[in-house]
Amino acid sequence: MVYMTRSVADIARMPRGGPDASCVDRLLQTDRLEYLDRDTDADAAGQARKRAVLQALEWTGQFFGETERFAKLVLDELAEIPDPKVLELGAGHGGLSRKLLEWHPTAELTVTDVDPASVAALAASDLGAHPRATVRRMDATDIDAPDHHFDLAVFALSFHHLTPPQAARAFAEGTRVADTLLIIDLPRPPSPLHLARLAVMLPFAPLVPFVHDGVISSLRSYSPSALRALAAHADPAIEVDLRSGLMSPQVVVARR
Ligand SMILES: C[S@@+](CC[C@H](N)C(=O)[O-])C[C@H]1O[C@@H](n2cnc3c(N)ncnc32)[C@H](O)[C@@H]1O
Repeated sequence: MVYMTRSVADIARMPRGGPDASCVDRLLQTDRLEYLDRDTDADAAGQARKRAVLQALEWTGQFFGETERFAKLVLDELAEIPDPKVLELGAGHGGLSRKLLEWHPTAELTVTDVDPASVAALAASDLGAHPRATVRRMDATDIDAPDHHFDLAVFALSFHHLTPPQAARAFAEGTRVADTLLIIDLPRPPSPLHLARLAVMLPFAPLVPFVHDGVISSLRSYSPSALRALAAHADPAIEVDLRSGLMSPQVVVARR
């Protein structure tokens, strides 16, 4: 299939399942925000829900070995670079940056998130005092850094938070500031499997903030064809290497 540059309006309307998504797949999406995305939740209860989701993410990442798997993916991309500069976008709890600092003796990490409360928590943690880490607030759709400043930018389990126009911006910005943009995100399963996954999760969504955000994440995840269309819209010069899993996270390596 050829992925052509699409108009801004086409991209804004593109289903999460991609330009050629089936009718059922088009129904399996939502504009509803996750707790993690709610700016208006500045009250104590809203902040507590966000913290609960981030703590659950950190715990599951460690327990199921995903943090280590993601760190290996990053280090594989950096194998030829002696003292790499790495940007983590959407770092949340910072677990991936911590693992990279632990495993790579000279890597410099810029650890960022768009959420000011998460950035404050990261800065107050061990990462804020680490000699090879800098903690900053950054928006993946408008990155405050010069061209090619980083060897690699990684955006883990966060891309689905972006609307299609924002996601295209993140492709453009990530490949502008870094030589390699590594996106790791939830897979979008085929519709029957997707429905089964949602049916298992839905009863718990009103009770457990992590599951609530998980259901919305699943509905907002992008398919491989959507990811290719977004990259092509951002810049036809962006080359995308896509490794998609059925249930395991999908991996996108993007370069210009
Ligand atoms: C589900 S959490 C993932 C946290 C962590 N990367 C992980 O793998 O567990 C998504 C994170 O993306 C962040 N995020 C959402 N929109 C963003 C944007 N435009 N730029 C940067 N980060 C963003 C959220 O604040 C949140 O911390």
